[in-house]
Amino acid sequence: GEPIHIEREDWSFGGFFGHFDRPQLRRGFQVYKDVCAACHGLSRVYFRNLAEPGGPMFDEASVQALAKDWPNQITDGPNDEGNMFQRPAKLSDPIHGPYKNEQEARFVNNGAYPPDLSNIIKARTIENHDAWYAHVFKMGRDILTGYQEAGADYVHALLVGYTDPPSGFELSEGMHYNKAFPGHQIAMNPPIPPEGAVEYQENAGAKSSLEQNARDVTAFLAWASDPSLESRKRIGWQVMLYLLVTTVLLYIAKHRIWARVK
Ligand code: HEM
Repeated sequence: GEPIHIEREDWSFGGFFGHFDRPQLRRGFQVYKDVCAACHGLSRVYFRNLAEPGGPMFDEASVQALAKDWPNQITDGPNDEGNMFQRPAKLSDPIHGPYKNEQEARFVNNGAYPPDLSNIIKARTIENHDAWYAHVFKMGRDILTGYQEAGADYVHALLVGYTDPPSGFELSEGMHYNKAFPGHQIAMNPPIPPEGAVEYQENAGAKSSLEQNARDVTAFLAWASDPSLESRKRIGWQVMLYLLVTTVLLYIAKHRIWARVK
């Protein structure tokens, strides 16, 4: 079909000096928890990660409470009687979705599979690489700066991309039209209503709306996909600075050493 155009967004975590917007990550987690967690797991993120530097940095006591009350408990065991049992999550446990496995997930969702969202931004960045490549060659600036936000652009576009199908489009039973989804037929119901789905606790001037919820949860998922982004970028420019200083020193040293030679 027609190539899908994904709108390119500004993200705080893009570019050389990119960093996550802390209040945004917290709002995004709230959207994940209140909306997406009903169907999607986040099982490569551990509760303790939510309190660690570089992420949303909730305080540890509140994450502990969050883990304890998380509706999708941890299967542990066997105990002394040889039985598996359910127990509340702890800081050291992964953030599980509601289903035991893919079969159960598909059974509940009419055969469709809501993927674990831990790595979705990175996965979709790679899959959107062709589109991304075309982009890069259109804009000279990107050749220098690199552009790694294609996955975030896509997930954002997906969440705000539900519309009525164009006339003549044959939508299958139970499917929804989405501008951004490959093939345009997605099994996921529009998860966020136009007026937004949560009342933000961490507000920072952000009023709840579809656009705001989508942007915030995407930023949160970008962190989940790449939790060391901040430290990596920081080390990157520290290395550049170090090399620059070394270059200057070597240049001065060279002049001194060769000064007497005419
Ligand atoms: C698929 C995100 C809420 C059910 C997906 C995909 C993403 C996503 C990124 C993959 C799309 C792709 O393959 O490219 C989200 C986010 C949510 C959310 C960020 C919260 C804001 C929900 C909820 C449900 C759900 C609440 C269940 C009621 C599904 C299903 C699929 C899916 C069934 C598979 C769709 C298909 O392959 O046709 N979701 N989701 N999602 N989601 Fe969600």
